[in-house]
Amino acid sequence: MSVNKEVRRVTTHTLQEMKNKGEKIAMLTAYDYSMALIVDQSGIDVILVGDSASNVMAGHETTLPITLDQMIYHAASVVRACKRSLVVVDMPFGSYQGNSKEALNSAIRIMKETGGHAIKMEGGEEIVESVKRILTAGIPVMGHLGLTPQSIYKFGTYQVRAKEEAEAERLIHDAKLLAESGCFAIVLEKIPATLAKRVAQEVHVPIIGIGAGGDVDGQVLVLHDMLGITEGFTPRFLRKYLNMGEQMRGAVEQYVSDVRSADFPNDKEQY
Ligand code: KIV
Repeated sequence: MSVNKEVRRVTTHTLQEMKNKGEKIAMLTAYDYSMALIVDQSGIDVILVGDSASNVMAGHETTLPITLDQMIYHAASVVRACKRSLVVVDMPFGSYQGNSKEALNSAIRIMKETGGHAIKMEGGEEIVESVKRILTAGIPVMGHLGLTPQSIYKFGTYQVRAKEEAEAERLIHDAKLLAESGCFAIVLEKIPATLAKRVAQEVHVPIIGIGAGGDVDGQVLVLHDMLGITEGFTPRFLRKYLNMGEQMRGAVEQYVSDVRSADFPNDKEQY
């Protein structure tokens, strides 16, 4: 796919227009300059500097250990690569749960030190005060409901959320509250497709799904999962577009073999 060189930045308004017109929104994660450059040039609408960097980049088991400073480092690298996409930066665990003043300070640091365009926070009613306070500073906020990995120790598992009536009703309530509070979009992670569809119909802002079926306004995946770099992660919702892990291993094995056999460098590969 070739992308028009006259790039126009995707904004939160673009996303709302896309929802209004029924155009699907494509979102992926990125955590570094080189990958973000490729993703941005490929026509993606939104790049999420996700706190999944904690797993994917740093090898932690959960998203909890990543710090605000580390998120800022990743986000600044991504922003330097992006001409077209809207760059959304995850507020990491511990940077906003305390109180709304702390949340605002963290959001301001992200915006000032990364050049990102918006922040994302996990949670419903409990984060509404922070959402409103951050919005007063002119910082766009994306919500995140359903499976919220920062609460993994509360949930106990990474299973599908909101299968029961009470949790589903609570999720709809939270989504409406986040939208009314001014969130420009909401991520719904790993919930039944019928519930996600209902949220997308009843909530006026774009609903971006991951493991939430096709009847929402857009989709997000973790880049390293869809490229087949992540090992041993095969949830039903994940479509792998490449087997990059295997291809990279093959290339590195070939390089090792070429060095060992003195095949590399050859006469043309030297001065
Ligand atoms: O951190 C992340 O990558 C995310 C996506 C899974 C939505 O929050």
